[in-house]
Formats: sequence, structure tokens, C-alpha cells
Amino acid sequence: MCGIVGYIGKQDASPIIIDGLRRLEYRGYDSAGICTLNGGEPQLRRAEGKLINLENILREKPATGSRGIGHTRWATHGRPSEINAHPHKAGSIVVVHNGIIENYLKLKSRLQKQGHKFSSETDTEIIAHLVEEHYQQCGDFEKAVRLALAEVEGAYGVAILCIDEPDKLIAAKLGSPLVVGQGDGEFFVASDIPAMLSHTREMIFLDDGEIVVFTPEKMWITDLSGQPLVKQSKTITWSPLMAEKGGYKHFMLKEIYEQPRTLADTIAGRIQGEEGDIYLEDLGLSQEQLADLDKINIIACGTSWHAGLVGKFYIEKLARIPVEIDIASEFRYRDPIVTDKSLTLLISQSGETADTLAGLREAKGKGGKVVCICNVVDSSIARESDGVVYTHAGPEIGVASTKAFTTQLVALYLFALKLGRARGTLTADDCRNQVEALLALPRKLEETLELDEQIEQIAREFMNARDFLYMGRGNQYPIALEGALKLKEISYIHAEGYPAGEMKHGPIALIDENLPVVVLVPRNATYDKVVSNMEEVCARGGKVIAVASGDENELQGKVAELIKVPQTTEDLLPILTSIPMQLLAYHIAVLKGTDVDQPRNLAKSVTVE
Ligand code: AGP
Repeated sequence: MCGIVGYIGKQDASPIIIDGLRRLEYRGYDSAGICTLNGGEPQLRRAEGKLINLENILREKPATGSRGIGHTRWATHGRPSEINAHPHKAGSIVVVHNGIIENYLKLKSRLQKQGHKFSSETDTEIIAHLVEEHYQQCGDFEKAVRLALAEVEGAYGVAILCIDEPDKLIAAKLGSPLVVGQGDGEFFVASDIPAMLSHTREMIFLDDGEIVVFTPEKMWITDLSGQPLVKQSKTITWSPLMAEKGGYKHFMLKEIYEQPRTLADTIAGRIQGEEGDIYLEDLGLSQEQLADLDKINIIACGTSWHAGLVGKFYIEKLARIPVEIDIASEFRYRDPIVTDKSLTLLISQSGETADTLAGLREAKGKGGKVVCICNVVDSSIARESDGVVYTHAGPEIGVASTKAFTTQLVALYLFALKLGRARGTLTADDCRNQVEALLALPRKLEETLELDEQIEQIAREFMNARDFLYMGRGNQYPIALEGALKLKEISYIHAEGYPAGEMKHGPIALIDENLPVVVLVPRNATYDKVVSNMEEVCARGGKVIAVASGDENELQGKVAELIKVPQTTEDLLPILTSIPMQLLAYHIAVLKGTDVDQPRNLAKSVTVE
């Protein structure tokens, strides 16, 4: 998630903007930039890497003027570089943007036909050219912004300057957060509260489809058609640290709640409705190369390996190609069979996990093709892969992976659909039907988050257990593993995930009234089998916490606790059932007083063997 800061008033804009960007550093970024207006040439400065690099440039070449916009970029399209850093300029227009423009390729080719020259690989740059195009025609900055944004599809939080109208700063929101700060004869706009807290606590939260126009003396807010709107200002009482967490107690909880948005961002721009196909911009493999594959090896660690286990179901079901899956530290030492017809698919949130990177090199050394599913643009694994399917989860600060996991599942599903289409195992109509359920998922995830209070109660009841058992079948077995990992890594309670069908082969000896058993039993093909496994546990006094789906009531009264996620397709249920796993672990850890965001002995990225 990028950081945006804008200022217009009486003070020198540059230090205010840089200070604001520094307070947004927790959001993660890989480049930064600023542009101020002082009545002359726009003072545009950009740098790859950390803010200090931009500050060094500003020390040499100060950006003067009392209006300006600044940005820290978390790359989603185009690698981290000075040329891809924001702000982007086209003619008189300068823009910073947070979000994903879904129709940027179509707009870019139209603008190029109109003679616009592009210098970056970003989707953002088209906004600058689009506003400039309209500005050249209508000569009115505010109107040009409205006309341009009416053509844009996707998500944006933008702040825009016009060199020819330097007494105006315009910002607009659709899908990505923007907050307005009101000072005395000065105004601020930012993607998050911390950037402005040291200047003002009077803030207005923009809603989707709203535009705010600032002059040094006043501001007005309208909808996209120009209809004036009256918005209530709020007084923010948070501390700066609380503000970084968006008011949530921990980054982990904030990231759990970001998942409807991150799912939508990972899907955005990748569904080709007419063709009934999937567009993966950096996949790096042609349809023919995909069709020619005869095996896939998935390798990953930890939560990403659990995602891979679900991905195996997706790929084998939709593309009918054999999938082997390895924990990366095992793959790299077993002299794996890799040929030029096999594809090694790495999954890594950080893109820096040592064992996964070593697995990549092992596979490439054997002549195989390598694609990664990764959350960090231009990370080591992304750079060394032949192709990348980026998740758009934004930076994940909590050590326990949550939003990265569910966006990995979405990315795997999109990949499986694309592979199925390339191999002819999936018709265009089949693909459209699957995609329909996928597009409805962010809303269903919102509904699933409404279980939070019930799950917190369940956490209170079971927080003192010494051990937990998690079980599921089919594509729910990986979710059992994931639930167990979440619990043990943040609450330090021992937990194991098991295939439900394995109970009789040993684990059932563990069952007694002191062992909570989490059973993933959504309405799918193995529902009846899992119910009977569950009844074996109950018959021996085990306390079952059942995670069912839809308006299942058959289990009420049979189990200690019944959690119900919304119904969706069997393939997509793992994405919803993983949410109660995250929330149960989170609430138990909070009740036990552990360091939820930075659990003992753990690092966010394991960059050593
Ligand atoms: C999961 O909650 C852990 N943080 C850990 O298992 C993590 O998934 C694993 O280290 C892999 O990291 P990566 O996805 O960045 O490669």
C-alpha cells in the first residue's frame, strides 16, 4: 500500500510532506518522491529505496514552494526504480496514486494513439496523461480531473497538482483510503492519519467517489459529477502508534480486516470476461509453453506451503496436470526430478526465504522453468524467477501471515484457471462460472469477519488448553495445518493439524475433555465423512469447535461450539474457513498476553537456512 501526503497553505511544503511520508513508513515501500510548486518549474524529486535517499537529493536540490504532494511507493506494476517512483508528470499535471487501475492498458494505448509518450511501467502514469488530455481540451483543472477519473476503473487514492493553476490541490478517492486534515489557513491530505497527526487532529474521511479541492483559503468536497457534499469532521484522539495500526490493537488484526480489499486487489485487472480467460501480467510463459508442461512442482515454507497444498487441489482439478509439493528445505536436498517440461512454482510472501530461493536455483540449475507467487515486487525470488504472479496484499507487518495467505490462494486459483484454459481442460464458460464465485468472495469475506465477536468468546473458553488438534479433509486439511500453525506461532500453545481420516491411525488416542478439537466441516464433498470423524471425537469426550458453512444447523447441539462461514464453491471455501483460524489464534494470543505482532523466536522473513 503506497503512502500519499499533500499540503497547501502558508508553510514550506517539503518538510511537512517528508515528515508525513516518514510517519507512513510502516506501510512498507521501495521508492519515494515529492513535487512542490513555487510559481516556477515544478520541483519534482524522486529516489529508489528509502526516504533518506530522497532527503539526500533534496539537500542538494531543495524542493521549494507552499504546495506539494509526496509519495512512498509499494510497487504493484513495474519494478522499484526512480523512473517508476511517483509523482508522475504529464504536461501541466503531476499525480501521486495509491491503488490499482484495472483498465490502464486500454487507456494507455488510447492515449499513446493521441500522441502521449510514457516513461514508466506504472499504471499510475496514465492518470497524469488522462487529466492532461482533458485539461488541454477544457482548460479547467477541476473539470479535467473529474472527466479523467470518470474513465478510470479500479481503485485509487490520488493527489494532483496543476502547474498552471498552482493555487489548487485536488484529491480523490475510490477504493483506497484518503483522509483530509484541516489546519489554520492550511490543508493536508494523506492516505492515513499518522501523516498529519502532528499538524492537526481535525480530519475528514473521504468516501468512494468523492473529490476534494483545496485552495490555501478553503476546501470543498463534491461527488464525481461535481455535486457539492457536506462531510462531518472528526477529532482524532489516537496516539501516533495507534494511528499506524489504523486504530486496531495489532497489525495482525488490521491485516486480517484488510483481506476483503486485498482479495479484490489481487483479482483486479486479471479477469478477461469476454474471452473467459485470466490475464496474469508478469507470468512470463506463453499459452503454448503452459500447454506443453507435463508436471508442476510447488515449493514453499510455512504458511506459504499450506497455500501450496490448496494450490495442488486447484491445479490438478482445473488443469489436470500432476502436481508434486515440497517444503522448500526438503526439495533442495532430494535431487528432485526437473525437466524442461516441468514448472517449478514457488510461493513466498517476502520473496526472500532462503530455502525457497535455494529451491528456485536448484530447479533452474536442472533446466526447469520457474514462476513465483510473491507479495514483494522485485524481491530476490521475484527477480530470479522466469515469471511472477504478484499478490497485491500490500506490506504484511505482522509476523503471522494472514492476508498474504488468502491472496496466495486467490493467485493460485487464477493461475489454475489460466493453466486449465491453456491446456484445454477448462472451457471459456467453465472459467466464467468459476470467476463469478471468485468475484463474490470479498463480500463473503466481509461477512465472515462478522464472526469476530463469537470467536473471541470461544477463545476465552479455550485459552488455557495445553494442546489443540485441528482436522479437515481434502482442501480443508491444509487449513487445519494453517490453523494449528497460527495458534502455536503466536500463542505458544502446542497444536497439530491432521487429515480427519487419520484419526483412527493414532491421534484419537489423544482425545479427552481437555483437548479442544477444531474441525473444518464446511458443506463439501467430504462433509459426511468429517461429521463421522467429529462424532468419534465427541463420543470420547472431546470438545469440538466446528467450522461449518452456510446456515448449517445439523451440528448444533452436537459440538461445543459451531462457527458458520458463508457458503461458496468447494474450491473457495478454504479462503473463508481460514479466517476463523486466524481470529481464534489472534484472540487466544491476546488473552495470553503474548507479543502478537512479533512472537518470540520468529522473524517475518527467514533469510537464513
Ligand atoms: C507464517 O505465519 C509464518 N510467518 C511463516 O511460516 C512464513 O509463512 C514462512 O516463513 C514463509 O515465508 P515467505 O512466505 O515469506 O516465504
